[in-house]
Amino acid sequence: MALRAVSRKKTVRPRRRISRPASRPSKPAASARSGWKGVILEYWDYLPIRDRSAVVTLHEGHTPLIRSVDIVRQFPEGVEIYFKFEGTNPTGSFKDRGMTVAISRAKEEGAKAVICASTGNTSAAAAAYAGRAGMCAYVLIPEGNVALGKLCQAMMHGAKVLQIRGTFDRALELVRQIAKEHPVTIVNSINPYRLEGQKTAAFEIVDTLGRAPTYHALPVGNAGNIVAYYRGYRQYLKLGKARSAPVMLGFQAEGAAPIVRGHPVENPQSVASAIRIGNPANWQEALKTRDESRGLIDAVTDTEILAAYRLLAEREGVFCEPASAASVAGILKLAARRMFKRGDSIVCTLTGCGLKDPDSALSQASRPAVIPADLREVAAHMGFA
Ligand code: F0G
Repeated sequence: MALRAVSRKKTVRPRRRISRPASRPSKPAASARSGWKGVILEYWDYLPIRDRSAVVTLHEGHTPLIRSVDIVRQFPEGVEIYFKFEGTNPTGSFKDRGMTVAISRAKEEGAKAVICASTGNTSAAAAAYAGRAGMCAYVLIPEGNVALGKLCQAMMHGAKVLQIRGTFDRALELVRQIAKEHPVTIVNSINPYRLEGQKTAAFEIVDTLGRAPTYHALPVGNAGNIVAYYRGYRQYLKLGKARSAPVMLGFQAEGAAPIVRGHPVENPQSVASAIRIGNPANWQEALKTRDESRGLIDAVTDTEILAAYRLLAEREGVFCEPASAASVAGILKLAARRMFKRGDSIVCTLTGCGLKDPDSALSQASRPAVIPADLREVAAHMGFA
């Protein structure tokens, strides 16, 4: 580098336009210039941000709607199933849709710090977007109950991570109190801007399918996402962009199913750590959503969740986290009760990426065999002996 700099100084030539080879376009291709801009700019008219310079985005959204090729075989002929795979968002979960709006709004309002309680994904998204916005992020998580990948994300994005000896529900209580007494903005789903952002997933589904599905299934934890989706579908219906809104199907984990039981669960348990929540903040709104859409909120066991988790990875090629698989476990349970019929379409939200939770994956799959580096051995282990 140094040598080249010196030689360039010696030969001072007038600046000349460098002509590019004909094969290389001088401007970026149209597709690159008009790439996906993130949910706020793409759905500008439907979201509560007014100052373009305040937009904090990682180009979240625009996630794939993947048609089922295998699980669909367990349903009657003529049923269509799609997976809205939110694991392809920048921090690997649907939380990014809400976080871009919550953090942009906090920036508009001049906030310097944000706080959240989290089972992991909210903390990862809050840390990433707050970092990008130059804000401080504080996250309170239940000690020992957050998947490894999510903890790594929050740490790497520079959040101040506090592990409490208590549940997610206790962490959220503490967050509410802290925000009353100190200058920090809550970015949990009790922040109304979060749900505004999350509703854009429903917009994308209608934009892709050209209509709303008959049913929409998703996991329920703090119960914000089910409310957000229905809000999005209803808004598109009102605008005439869809002719119907789906029946909403929510699924909690059996050991963490306060809405199904009708009372808070003190010590929620499930292999699906993301939805290990005993007292959801959006409980009443979720009930309203269930009733207005003529849907249901049911529970699925850990065994059912893990079976769907493996099926999705092995047969559909989609590696999601255990909590995400609750949506598929739920519709499989309802299919066994003959709920669906020809002509129905079902969208399942797969809320987060499987790589976030390596421990759950390792506990499900058999470990690879270790063998000598020998041709015959390899062939023999492949069954070609
Ligand atoms: N799936 C995943 C992967 C989640 O992380 C969550 C919630 C849910 C489903 C449930 O969504 O709360 O809107 O009903 N995770 C929150 C968190 C609680 O802190 O990351 P919900």
